[in-house]
Amino acid sequence: MYINFWYPIARADEVSADKPLRVDLLGMSFVTFRDEDGAAHVLADTCVHRGGSLSQGWVRGGRAICPYHGWEFGGDGKCKHVPSLVTAKIPARAKVDSYPVEEKYGIIFAFLGDLPEEERPPIYEIEEFEDEGWKSQLYVYELNAYYERSIENGMDPIHNQFVHPKQGQPMLEPEMQAKPVPMSDIPWGSKFYLPFGQKLDHDTDLKGDKTGERVGAAGSWHQGPNQLVTYIDLTATNSFHQYMFEAPLSESKTRVFFINMRNWLLDDEYDERIETVTLEVVHEDVAVLEALQPSRTPDTNTKEILVPGDTAVVRYREYLKDWDARGWRIDYKKLMAKKGDVAFAIPCPGRRESGNWVLDTVPMEPGNPEMIGSATRDSKIGKADVA
Ligand code: FES
Ligand SMILES: [Fe+2]
Repeated sequence: MYINFWYPIARADEVSADKPLRVDLLGMSFVTFRDEDGAAHVLADTCVHRGGSLSQGWVRGGRAICPYHGWEFGGDGKCKHVPSLVTAKIPARAKVDSYPVEEKYGIIFAFLGDLPEEERPPIYEIEEFEDEGWKSQLYVYELNAYYERSIENGMDPIHNQFVHPKQGQPMLEPEMQAKPVPMSDIPWGSKFYLPFGQKLDHDTDLKGDKTGERVGAAGSWHQGPNQLVTYIDLTATNSFHQYMFEAPLSESKTRVFFINMRNWLLDDEYDERIETVTLEVVHEDVAVLEALQPSRTPDTNTKEILVPGDTAVVRYREYLKDWDARGWRIDYKKLMAKKGDVAFAIPCPGRRESGNWVLDTVPMEPGNPEMIGSATRDSKIGKADVA
């Protein structure tokens, strides 16, 4: 699990100016609420007085109020009022981490990390989200599996024929399965897009494919460690575009915010049926994912036998290594071991602007500066890691 990416926190309609909502993510707790202007905020959940959980308290006047002794924190994370300090000044250290927030697609996203704005990897841009002729549904569900395994599943074009009777077990031509999946890069990720029922076409330019005549095509890509896109283009005009924003709650549990977009069957009468069928397909995946061993993506590809159909999985893992190299991976075992003794927070951008913070920052795995950029510089796709 990584700091320095955007994570989905809650459905927009779950976050209110009346009461705080606790959200667990990356092994940590956060509190989210709205201020009087309706802007959503996400703060570390730990009160810096004596460790109260802000999400158990109240929201009043746009402030999160600790249930223990009533300290009041603004959306910027700063303590604005200490009831027991009638005349004295509020200590400068009385602040909690406050994270950048964006409200998009009916979801509250928070940037859980300390990068300045210009360096932050983006929230995936759904180009057709507001377009006429497209309709979206948002589903939220949890699975007892690690999010990286879930993203890898989305980047796997071979599993469909075995896992998805609900989809009619779509199958890649055997000769396509035997060749490396042709990959192309996007910012912070990689993608494939394959025609089905046709010979393998190494042109993966999506826009070109969409305007051409074809029986159908499908593709998947990831951006960052936790955002997955799947296009199912049945014909040039009948598509499902699916966007999964995954929130790792812990190393064994994931909450998925799934935006299902379609440009056909637009009448409301189809909504329920499409949701039911889509979630049945999701649960076919979940059943497999919850039983994987090891439950988390292994450190090295030599602990599994990867074949050409796993090319996109290998590519995803190359990106994970790059983010490891940046020192962005949380040392989860250390975090769990120390959690009872130390209150931690994911560092927020404010920590680069001021010192004197009460909460310790979450323990991180060491980075490796020489390997930064390796995903785009030293890709081994088609070489040693794939049999
Ligand atoms: S612990 Fe939060 S006000 Fe005392
Ligand atoms: Fe699947």
